[in-house]
Amino acid sequence: MTSSIATAFDLDILRSRVRDWKTEGLRTALVPTMGALHDGHLELVRRGVQIADRVVVTIFVNPKQFGANEDLDKYPQDISGDRKKLEAVGADLVYVPNNREMYPEGFSSVVSVKGPAVAGLEDKFRPQFFDGVTTVVAKLFNQAGCDYAMFGEKDFQQLAVISQMVRDLNIPTTIVPVETVREPSGLAMASRNAYLSKSELQLAPALYKQMQVAAETIRGGGPRSKAVALAAKALTKLGFKVDYVEVRNAHTLDEVQGENEQMRILAAAWLGKTRLIDNIGV
Ligand code: PAJ
Repeated sequence: MTSSIATAFDLDILRSRVRDWKTEGLRTALVPTMGALHDGHLELVRRGVQIADRVVVTIFVNPKQFGANEDLDKYPQDISGDRKKLEAVGADLVYVPNNREMYPEGFSSVVSVKGPAVAGLEDKFRPQFFDGVTTVVAKLFNQAGCDYAMFGEKDFQQLAVISQMVRDLNIPTTIVPVETVREPSGLAMASRNAYLSKSELQLAPALYKQMQVAAETIRGGGPRSKAVALAAKALTKLGFKVDYVEVRNAHTLDEVQGENEQMRILAAAWLGKTRLIDNIGV
């Protein structure tokens, strides 16, 4: 069965739909995604349905946030499967812009955030990433003009960077964070999990397990840097190639200074050719 969910392939249709809803006094929520939707994405939509009257989901694999050697060309895509899933959870409109719509010839702007975007976490390993994300998300916010926008805690630094951008630039969209949705094994759901082999899939939950152990140690008063170093060591021993396991201030993502700060452990590690990221509150 094909899906009948309304789909806008260009900006004029998106704008006129949202404008009509606003005229009717309806509140709107935006869920930006790159597609290949899983239950984590769908949870964002479900939360959007709870807080707003209409939910717009965007699907756009944004070339600007991929590095030259990254997986842009093989990023999983399944528009018809995605549309069925979105209809089932009650989304109202899917916006699928093409590259020319988003980045017409002569496109010359970059939205670039500092602060949490230069914390030395994802930005250290993917230097192009946040400028690409903030540029496309700022565009999507301007295009859709929704009241709310849903973002997953799964990408914790991204959430902090977008919240910073919205504050700094007075963008009239309220950011709504949504908790990470996990497999029963604890593995955070991610579109890129589709790349994992059977044996890698069995190993992958160790990332979250080791972060839980480190968080428990820190909660119990153990030394922070040792706790995360031990997690990195254990993961390396299991066969991960660790980019970082760090404990940071949960709001600024700066290094932790005092004892009474709210903290977050953030990690990224490779299993074979797949890069996994995750985070956990302390
Ligand atoms: P994508 O990786 O498709 O993720 C879209 C949204 O889903 C993000 O807000 C992400 O944090 C959230 N998400 C992914 N996995 C999740 C999980 N397991 N639990 C909860 N939320 C989850 O993030 C992007 O796309 C892009 O960078 C984007 C913001 C769309 C800009 O291109």
